[in-house]
Amino acid sequence: MPDTNSTDTNSTDTNSFVDAAPTDYLEPGETAIVDVDGTPVAIANTGEKWCAFQPMCPHQETPLGGVPLMRGTLLRCPEHGSVFDVSTGECVLPSNDGWSGNMHTFRTRVVDDVVQISLD
Ligand code: FES
Repeated sequence: MPDTNSTDTNSTDTNSFVDAAPTDYLEPGETAIVDVDGTPVAIANTGEKWCAFQPMCPHQETPLGGVPLMRGTLLRCPEHGSVFDVSTGECVLPSNDGWSGNMHTFRTRVVDDVVQISLD
């Protein structure tokens, strides 16, 4: 039986998941951009689970790959300071100009030491 450590709650649509990175690709607290079937996606290893989210800040498109996590799942955009929870996409602290939109996230799961992402 495959090793699954998943944030996916719908196990019936297994065909939508694509291999994204090996589980040793990032240390806990790190983020990066990976290619998912030609689409750049940001991934994060929270130490508890893997999260996937849009690679550019939804405020003004600042790249977010490589920005370290804070307090487990929080990521602070280096441009204007918006803080997002990468596990939900929620903006938990507005930018320094008062913007507070959320980011888009993607479902993840781990199968046989490979992080998989669904873009659906
Ligand atoms: S570009 Fe990220 S908060 Fe402005």
